[in-house]
Amino acid sequence: MEQTFIMIKPDGVQRGLVGEIIGRFEKKGFSLKGLKLVSVDRPFAEKHYADLSAKPFFSGLVDYIISGPVVAMVWEGKGVVTTGRKIIGATNPAESAPGTIRGDFAIDIGRNVIHGSDSVESSRKEIALWFPEGIVSWQSSVHPWIYE
Ligand code: GTP
Ligand code: MG
Repeated sequence: MEQTFIMIKPDGVQRGLVGEIIGRFEKKGFSLKGLKLVSVDRPFAEKHYADLSAKPFFSGLVDYIISGPVVAMVWEGKGVVTTGRKIIGATNPAESAPGTIRGDFAIDIGRNVIHGSDSVESSRKEIALWFPEGIVSWQSSVHPWIYE
């Protein structure tokens, strides 16, 4: 089944939003397959956001991601990459709909609380980068109550 990499950024951890965010993915019906609290260094953050290295906000973005611990997660489910991005909301919280994580909990684009992979291909790369040790293999017992 499809998997995505979700990271609660340092502002989300500092603001005590970890439980709220995990709850939204759990209640939707997605399955948690990997979870850890980590502090990453500059080279690691630069690798994670390598695609954005030419952007003017890149060094500020890296400063932000290394400013405190983050919660790295792998979530699994049908369409989880696209649906996960919908749960998260638009990149700029000024445009994120109410009811989305960024729409409910963020104001500035540079403090937008959470990251989610933007494609299945990125999710594979990001899961390999953040979870080189692998993730947990388990099947939720409520699966038949979520999937037809
Ligand atoms: P992620 O899930 O974090 O990857 O966000 P995204 O996929 O919605 O957006 P994108 O990958 O384009 O940008 C990555 C992150 O860079 C965003 O989440 C923002 O935190 C930051 N960012 C993007 N655009 C801007 C910008 O114009 N200014 C600033 N300050 N930060 C930006
Ligand atoms: Mg992105």
